[in-house]
Amino acid sequence: MNSMKSYLLLLSTLCIAVLFSRCTGKMSAQNATQSSRSTKGLKDYYKNYFTMGVAVSPRELRTDAAKLVAEHFASVTPENAMKMGPIHPRENEYFWSDADTIVAFAKKNKMKVRGHTLVWHAQTPNWLFTGANGDTVSKQLLLQRMKDHITTVVNRYKGSIYAWDVVNEAIDDNNQLYLRNTAWYRICGEEFIAKAFEYAHAADPKAVLFYNDYNTENPGKRDRIFKLVKGLKDAGVPIHGVGLQGHWSVNNPSREELEQSIKMFSSLGLQVQVTELDVSVYAGRQGGQLINGQRDTSSTFTAEMEQQQLEKYKMVFDVFRKYKKELTGVTFWNISDRYSWLDGRGRKNYPLLFDRNLQPKKAFWEVVNF
Ligand code: XIL
Repeated sequence: MNSMKSYLLLLSTLCIAVLFSRCTGKMSAQNATQSSRSTKGLKDYYKNYFTMGVAVSPRELRTDAAKLVAEHFASVTPENAMKMGPIHPRENEYFWSDADTIVAFAKKNKMKVRGHTLVWHAQTPNWLFTGANGDTVSKQLLLQRMKDHITTVVNRYKGSIYAWDVVNEAIDDNNQLYLRNTAWYRICGEEFIAKAFEYAHAADPKAVLFYNDYNTENPGKRDRIFKLVKGLKDAGVPIHGVGLQGHWSVNNPSREELEQSIKMFSSLGLQVQVTELDVSVYAGRQGGQLINGQRDTSSTFTAEMEQQQLEKYKMVFDVFRKYKKELTGVTFWNISDRYSWLDGRGRKNYPLLFDRNLQPKKAFWEVVNF
């Protein structure tokens, strides 16, 4: 009887042990899938295609978002830290700390850095265009100041920055106009563009030099950008690439427009990068500025937005993969929906692949499932 009892006890212990191990086995398999899902970064899915990057600020790199940046991206772009206003606030004063923080973060995590941007009309200090007596500077002095700026900044990060957006947004949006009417243009004429590339190349002959702009899929603007970069190329100016900013939205660009842009610019022997990618959940071009003046005040990420956005992300990454020979980099403009530069337009936007809790959105899985 006693031996019967101990036999039954042994049997039930065995059963419990088997059940338990099956159950924990299943759990660890589940954990493994989840963690391998989250530890495989965007950059790993795309390592045979192009460099995957993201725009960052030193402030965000001091938060938990830093881990996500290092896991998913192989390159960083300073969102603001290297623009002329922030980095060169007064003629004899540079502010390096923010840019240095980003470059150090990239080094520590073995990431590349895209420099952004040397010559632009926005976030540019007034001292640059103002002479000693308060009047507008001469062309000669402006080019000298530009040269000093470019030489100093490019030199400081030589070897750490592999590519620079040398000139940003020089073409006008208006189909009747060509170059944007900026202080650079008014004082120097068209020449400031070629000069910027020459100074950057002289400072770092190894850096890949880009002309960068938005609305590059809009046929009219695309033609004008093409005219500009072809002219530079033909004149022997050291330009190596065209940056398509990629501030897109749920209804733009179309596959055809996007393919056409990549084909046209690469036909000049220039590499193409998508430098500031985000997909606004509101209709319209250039980061959700609404067409017809309509403004959506809703701040909820609706199921419809989610669906439209994931379709757009799926389509553009399909195209990116198709043109992997022409396309050398894709950089997102901001890390997650916790913060986007598009939020500042009176409504919350949700333009990225990670949500406010830094978790991958449905669109993320569309982008990596291929
Ligand atoms: C934006 C930044 O994201 C904002 O923080 C800043 O206030 C304005 O500039 N095109 C560019 C980027 O080339 O430099 C801009 O970045 C977004 C549009």
